[in-house]
Amino acid sequence: NLSDQHSLVSNWVSELRNVDVQNDRMRFRRNLERIGEVAAYEISKELPWVETEVQTPLGTHNSKLLAEQPVLITILRAGLPLHQGMLNYLDKADNGFISAYRKHHRDGSFEISLDYMSCPSLDGRIVIISDPMLATGSSLVKSIAGLKAEGTPSEIHVVCAIACTSGIELVKRQSGDDIKIWCGDIDDEITAKGYIVPGLGDAGDLAFG
Ligand code: PRP
Repeated sequence: NLSDQHSLVSNWVSELRNVDVQNDRMRFRRNLERIGEVAAYEISKELPWVETEVQTPLGTHNSKLLAEQPVLITILRAGLPLHQGMLNYLDKADNGFISAYRKHHRDGSFEISLDYMSCPSLDGRIVIISDPMLATGSSLVKSIAGLKAEGTPSEIHVVCAIACTSGIELVKRQSGDDIKIWCGDIDDEITAKGYIVPGLGDAGDLAFG
C-alpha cells in the first residue's frame, strides 16, 4: 500500500475520492499521474541494478544503473494518466496498451471484452501494469491472460490508485500469487454492479469525460 506511513499518496487519493475536487478534471488526472510517479520510484527499489563506472569532469564514479528496462502496460482508457506518471520516471521503458471494457448484458451481468492489445515481446521481461481501479479484478485477470499469450514475463507488478480486497484476491488466485500489487489505497466493499465503495466513482469519466 503506497499510502502506508501517511505518505503524500494518501492526500492525492483523498482528492481523487472527493466530489468537491473531482470537478477539476486536470487535477484528477495529475493526481493519478503523481501516484504513477511515486509507484515507479517505489518499484524501482526492487528492480535489478548494475554498477557502471561513469566519468565526471573531475574523476570517475561507480554509479548504479537500472540493469534492464521494464515494460509499462496500461489498460485504456482510465489507465493513461497513471501510465504517464510511471513513464515520467521510468522514461526509457518499453510500453504496451490494452483495451478492456465491461460489455453489459441485458440481465445486468457483464463480461470483459479485450479488443486491442499492442505490446513488445514479454518473454523474460519485467512487466508493470497500471490501471487506477482494481474492482472485481476481472479486467486485470483477462488482460494478464492476454499478455501471457505474448510471452512469459520474469515478474509482473500491478499499480492502481484504489484496489478492492476481493479484486486483489481474484487476481492473486487466477493470475498468480507472485504478482505484486502496488496501490494507493484499499477498500473492502464492492457493489453488485462491480463498483468499489467508497471508491471514487468512474475513473475514466472523471479523467476524460
Ligand atoms: C474501469 C477501470 C478498470 C476496470 C476495473 O474501467 O479503469 O479497467 O474498470 O474493474 P474490474 O476490476 O471490475 O474489472 P472501465 O471499464 O470503466 O473503462 P474506462 O477506463 O474506459 O472508463
